[in-house]
Amino acid sequence: MKTYILPSLLAADFGNLAGGAVLAEKSGADELHLDIMDGHFVPNISMGPDVVQMSTNTISIPRNVHLMLTYPDKYVEKFADAGASSIQIHVEADCDIKACLEDINQRGIKSGITINPDTAADAVFEYLPLVDEVLCMSVHPGYGGQSFMPNVLPKLKAIRLKANELGLDDLRIMVDGGINRETAVECARMGANAFVAGTFLFKSDDMAEEIENLRKSTELDYGKGLLTT
Ligand code: DX5
Ligand code: ZN
Repeated sequence: MKTYILPSLLAADFGNLAGGAVLAEKSGADELHLDIMDGHFVPNISMGPDVVQMSTNTISIPRNVHLMLTYPDKYVEKFADAGASSIQIHVEADCDIKACLEDINQRGIKSGITINPDTAADAVFEYLPLVDEVLCMSVHPGYGGQSFMPNVLPKLKAIRLKANELGLDDLRIMVDGGINRETAVECARMGANAFVAGTFLFKSDDMAEEIENLRKSTELDYGKGLLTT
C-alpha cells in the first residue's frame, strides 16, 4: 500500500512560512498540510486563505487544507480560490455536512471528513462514499506538539474495515496529531495510509531522511493489525 507523508506547516517558523513550505517540498513530502483555526471551533487562531495562497505560489506539491472551523461551508470558496488541492471539514462542524462535501467535490477538489478523538467512528460512515479521505485526529485539535492519543487506533481499524466492506479501496485514511516514527507505524498497522506530522518533521535535523523513514516503515507494516480480531 502506498503511504503519504504530509508535514504540517503549523510547526514551521512563522517568520518564514514560505521557507517551511519549500523545506517540506524539497524533503520529499507528498503534500503540505495546512491547519486553519477560527478561535471558535478550537481555542486557537492560526492561518487563513492568504497562507494557502502563498503556498500555492511557492510549491507545486498539493495543499491539504484542514478546516477547524465551526462554519466551514462559508469558507470553502475562499480556500478553493486560494489553491487548496483538498479540503477537509470536521464531522462535528455546524453545517450541512453532506452539502458542504458536495460543494467541495463540485469544485474539482478532493474532499475529506475529519473526526475528533471523542467522536465515535460510525459518525463518518455515511460520508465515506462522498469523500477522498478521512482525517482521524489523534489529539484534540487546536495545537501542535501534543501527545498521541492511542484511542484513535481502533477507530482507524473500524473505518478501514468499513471502507473495505463498501468497496472503497482508494479511500485515504489519514491520522493527525503526535505522529512520529513509533506512532506512525502503530497507525499504519490499523489501516492508516497518510500521516500528518508537524513537530516531529519540522524539529528534526534531517526532514528528508525522516520522511523517507516514515514512508518505508508505514508501507512495510500497513494493515498488519487488520487481520486480528
Ligand atoms: C492540530 C493540527 C495538527 C498539528 C499536528 O490541531 O490539526 O495538524 O499541526 O502537529 P503535531 O504533529 O506537532 O502533533
Ligand atoms: Zn491538522
